[in-house]
Amino acid sequence: MLSLKSFVVGCCALQVVNAVPRLRESRHEFDIVKRSASSFLETEVPIALADLLCNIGSAGSCAAGANSGIVIASPSKTNPDYFYTWTRDSALVFKCIVDTFVNSYSASLQTEIENYINAQAIVQGISNPSGSLSNSGTGLGEPKFNVDETAFTGAWGRPQRDGPALRAIALITYSKWLINNGYQSTANSIVWPIIQNDISYVAQYWNQTGFDLWEEVNGSSFFTVANQHRALVEASALATSLGKSLPNASSQAAQALCFLQSFWSSSQGYIVANINQNNGRSGKDANTLLGSIHTFDPEGNCDASTFQPCSDRTLANHKVVVDSFRSIYTINNGIPAGTAAAVGRYPEDSYQGGNPWYLNTLAAAELLYDALYQWKRIGAITVTSTSLAFFKDLDSSITVGTYSSSSSTYTTLYNAVSNYADGFVNNVATYAPSNGSLAEQYNRNNGQPLSAYDLTWSYAALLTAAARRSGVVPYSWGETSASSVPSVCSYTSAVGSYSSASTGSWPPNQTPTDGSGSTTSKSTSVTVSSTSTSASSTAVATSPVTVTFDEIVTTIFGQTIKIAGNVPVLGNWNTNNAVALSADGYTSSNHLWNVGISFAPGTVIQYKYINVASNGDVTWEADPNHTYTVPATGATAVTVNNSWQS
Ligand SMILES: *[C@@H]1O[C@H](CO)[C@@H](O)[C@H](O)[C@H]1NC(C)=O
Ligand SMILES: *[C@@H]1O[C@H](CO)[C@@H](O)[C@H](O)[C@H]1NC(C)=O
Ligand SMILES: *[C@@H]1O[C@H](CO)[C@@H](O)[C@H](O)[C@H]1NC(C)=O
Ligand SMILES: *[C@@H]1O[C@H](CO)[C@@H](O)[C@H](O)[C@H]1NC(C)=O
Ligand SMILES: *[C@@H]1O[C@H](CO)[C@@H](O)[C@H](O)[C@H]1NC(C)=O
Ligand SMILES: *[C@@H]1O[C@H](CO)[C@@H](O)[C@H](O)[C@H]1NC(C)=O
Repeated sequence: MLSLKSFVVGCCALQVVNAVPRLRESRHEFDIVKRSASSFLETEVPIALADLLCNIGSAGSCAAGANSGIVIASPSKTNPDYFYTWTRDSALVFKCIVDTFVNSYSASLQTEIENYINAQAIVQGISNPSGSLSNSGTGLGEPKFNVDETAFTGAWGRPQRDGPALRAIALITYSKWLINNGYQSTANSIVWPIIQNDISYVAQYWNQTGFDLWEEVNGSSFFTVANQHRALVEASALATSLGKSLPNASSQAAQALCFLQSFWSSSQGYIVANINQNNGRSGKDANTLLGSIHTFDPEGNCDASTFQPCSDRTLANHKVVVDSFRSIYTINNGIPAGTAAAVGRYPEDSYQGGNPWYLNTLAAAELLYDALYQWKRIGAITVTSTSLAFFKDLDSSITVGTYSSSSSTYTTLYNAVSNYADGFVNNVATYAPSNGSLAEQYNRNNGQPLSAYDLTWSYAALLTAAARRSGVVPYSWGETSASSVPSVCSYTSAVGSYSSASTGSWPPNQTPTDGSGSTTSKSTSVTVSSTSTSASSTAVATSPVTVTFDEIVTTIFGQTIKIAGNVPVLGNWNTNNAVALSADGYTSSNHLWNVGISFAPGTVIQYKYINVASNGDVTWEADPNHTYTVPATGATAVTVNNSWQS
């Protein structure tokens, strides 16, 4: 049949970053720091963001030849050739970018989002080997296209039915932001027609087989069905807020959830990744970790029906999937259960030798950060007989029960899961090259990077995991009112309508109107409520963090020290807009200049100090740029200590 490689798939998730640097050159002039998960991420996040943007046309210099808004899977053109645009990958990348944007407004990211949406209006209409839009939407199941927005006509694993669901999710999130900021008409006229086609496709075809996210198995895939369920739920709510009609989305959603239960094997205690096929594999597959993180709802409880990260099924499955790689990779030798290890796709994998993938090891971390977020919000950790083995790896004395956040057992488990999660990040840090570039895989025997270089999805996975670690989470998708499973599952399908969407003419100046550029469930500090399973979601407020920059530098009279950096408040590197420090604290024994500046929690900034002479001449301090991540939780004021780099 086809040349079934494993291809790249989706990508990102939300993050942090306030000011997205227009770094579209993949040049790494400083090394990452591998001291700890924190220091690694602090240095790796800006690299990941820059390299991710570098892989998006037409401005991204790593994606030369790609049209505007087109995401390449990797710049690699040979062995393997990933210089194509996948619907799934691109949607996951933009899911990440939109979530990043929602967390912290950025005009440049908004332009990226608009370009992506324009490109998708075009791509939806391209006739291809899977079919066409006008032929009952069949063309929407095509997995990948050429970077100039023409059809790829070679043999391939098609159709792939996760792409339309993931694209709808990314576009729905941007639509919610538009609505929340008073731009409903833009959501209506430009974004909705594209979403409607994708949701028609999901409602019509969710109950048919197709290829999984690794493009190898023609069957029913957990990752695909979980995302289809989420897309149907979210689209239904969006339709209501836009005054549109989607008569079948909610009935199909309930049935998709009913079917999703079939993936759980209670006798084996894990999620079987692919069903309705017969490939002879165990079914242990990182597909399932990715399914859970991409349907994580920050307001969700630990519902097993939707496989929320803190649910017992999901944690049991995490253990089984991670453990399946312990004995087969040399680099995992001697690492005991409960200690992080390198994670691949599935144990039987042989593509490029069958190796760990950065994005899967990061998914193992992210799933645990998600669970930590949910436990903290709920105010308790519940251990059931299903999840007991997972928890016993971390605390051998643990027994089944619900441990409220005031108990010492809660603290023990919470800290152990935190450390376990950081261990997966440290595994990636250990095997990332010192310049921070992330390929697709790393060698199972020696940890060397392997396969496609600068994989867009690897960077997205890094950004997502870093965001969750900082407590930065996406909007709720409505999981709490969409988790009850119908008593009878049935084969269903709803025939949808399809019509070509036109490339939008985006109104200018669609800036935040709520004062912060964000909306409901952003990030940060969590109000803990005390009950276990049904705590209602708490409003999660975000207030700015005041960062005081203390700079030790010797100056003479007439000179002013300023700070310039990559975010608007620091002048976007324009020295004319740099912020002056004060010399009020400067004494003969303490050459201190300082200033306090407010940032959104979780913002990642790069900056340098400049010395401005009385005649206006500017002297920059020496490389490297400083990088600092504003705490996402738990702080309202922090001090950063620097001294002039000469
Ligand atoms: C369709 O849904 C039914 C009912 O949940 C299920 O038994 C069947 O396996 C599903 N088939 C596919 C291909 O999704
Ligand atoms: C995969 O399954 C679908 C049925 O949903 C079928 O139409 C398609 O031909 C199959 N593809 C291959 C390559 O077997
Ligand atoms: C990073 O380092 C790797 C080898 O360690 C090299 O192949 C790659 O080209 C470098 N990437 C960049 C963007 O400098
Ligand atoms: C889809 O919705 C329409 C309009 O409400 C209804 O007539 C039709 O029966 C629904 N189709 C399915 C499969 O539920
Ligand atoms: C510091 O940031 C600026 C602006 O993005 C960039 O041009 C420069 O190369 C960076 N310097 C180093 C050493 O990375
Ligand atoms: C900077 O110095 C102050 C005062 O010595 C200290 O409280 C603070 O923790 C330091 N900040 C960092 C980021 O090291």
